[in-house]
Amino acid sequence: MTEVAVAEASMVVEESIERQGEFLIAVLQDIQEHYNYLPEAALQEVAARLDIPLRDVYGVATFYRSFSLAPKGEHIVTVCLGTACHVRGGARIVEALARELEIEAGETTPDLEFTLETVNCLGCCAIGPIVVVDGEYHGEMTAQGAVNLVRKIQKAERV
Ligand code: FES
Repeated sequence: MTEVAVAEASMVVEESIERQGEFLIAVLQDIQEHYNYLPEAALQEVAARLDIPLRDVYGVATFYRSFSLAPKGEHIVTVCLGTACHVRGGARIVEALARELEIEAGETTPDLEFTLETVNCLGCCAIGPIVVVDGEYHGEMTAQGAVNLVRKIQKAERV
């Protein structure tokens, strides 16, 4: 990280601790929300300010699936691969999106626009297969429908 980025990380952590107190998970959530992931400089700052060993901060950061140590895309596309969605074509949807975005599940596009993720059951199996784009649920999805969702975002961003 550059000096400016380190200074910013320090400020983000300081503001979060002012709001959250010394509640590690809440502070990590604030950082994740700000950057869309947990940058190393911010984790070092958290360890120093909360007086927690860095390995313990990493331990919490890697335990929860909602935290990411790698940068994520501006748009998060999540495909459910739980049993109900899988039997209705979830895997085909993942394959189609991976082809479209030229990444594998779990990866982020080099331009940091999209992250493709999979999940095991979102609790709404009756309307599967489910694709969630930036927090919005799309039920009874097809491979082409999912690709169209991505293309719609790309088109909107070009305008
Ligand atoms: S298996 Fe996909 S929502 Fe339950």
